[in-house]
Amino acid sequence: MKTTDQTILVTGASSGIGAVLSTSLAAAGNRVIACGRREEPLHDLSAKNDGIGYRLCDLQDNDAIRELAAELGPQIDILINCAGISQELSLTDQGGLDAQLKEVDINLNGVIRMVHAFQPHLTDRGETAIVNVSSALAFVPDAARPIYSATKAGLHAYTRALRHQLAGTDVRVFELMPPLTDTPMAENVTDVPKLSPEKLAEIFIRDLQRNTLEIAPGLSSTVRLLSRLAPAFLFRKLNYHR
Ligand SMILES: NC(=O)c1ccc[n+]([C@@H]2O[C@H](COP(=O)([O-])OP(=O)(O)OC[C@H]3O[C@@H](n4cnc5c(N)ncnc54)[C@H](OP(=O)(O)O)[C@@H]3O)[C@@H](O)[C@H]2O)c1
Repeated sequence: MKTTDQTILVTGASSGIGAVLSTSLAAAGNRVIACGRREEPLHDLSAKNDGIGYRLCDLQDNDAIRELAAELGPQIDILINCAGISQELSLTDQGGLDAQLKEVDINLNGVIRMVHAFQPHLTDRGETAIVNVSSALAFVPDAARPIYSATKAGLHAYTRALRHQLAGTDVRVFELMPPLTDTPMAENVTDVPKLSPEKLAEIFIRDLQRNTLEIAPGLSSTVRLLSRLAPAFLFRKLNYHR
């Protein structure tokens, strides 16, 4: 995949991995449209980096996504679905249903809405790409983050099916599966080493260029392998030390 002189829309760009992907892609000579709900960090990102513009968009708002796609869809070469939330939740909390469903709505339905709105434009344009950001937890659930893990496993399955359905087009479908990465999302996790988002972005751009469709940086490739060879061991290792 060409990784310079492309127009790239990045969701979740107001923070963490999405923000660093945006700056790295802009530094590599691309035009980036950074999306998120909060204007201040997006404005700062745009002001500090040549080649980054921004748009506000809530992934739970289907009308806003459709408007964004109508305006920008015809010029987008690469759509990166990076936005997400991660919550520690008790599945036995009877008051917790709204929080559970909100996580599904952002992490999974949000990507489905974006792909639904942008895919026709990407298909028309040809030589384009969709990148869905899942997680190493797509391969083994963190029981403390049950809905998050379920959405990422679901996103992995969805991305594989999408790739298959778009195989006859010029749209390539990539999946970036980060391991624990040093961003605000992971700030409360202190007992596991974290990848820097800058290193993650470097590996991502390299592998995008090589057309590696499933990009599993750092510990993610080990987790993926262990999930096939020793799934019960991996589950215990992740969940029984707490
Ligand atoms: N950090 C890790 O260890 C790790 C590991 C594996 C996978 N990931 C995945 O990597 C992606 C980025 O995570 P991160 O670590 O960079 O998290 P982060 O720093 O918390 O950033 C999350 C981003 O998602 C956006 N977002 C949340 N809800 C949204 C909504 N309803 N509509 C639009 N945007 C929304 C936020 O923007 P606004 O608040 O401005 O809307 C923010 O830009 C996520 O999909 C996450 O699951 C992270």
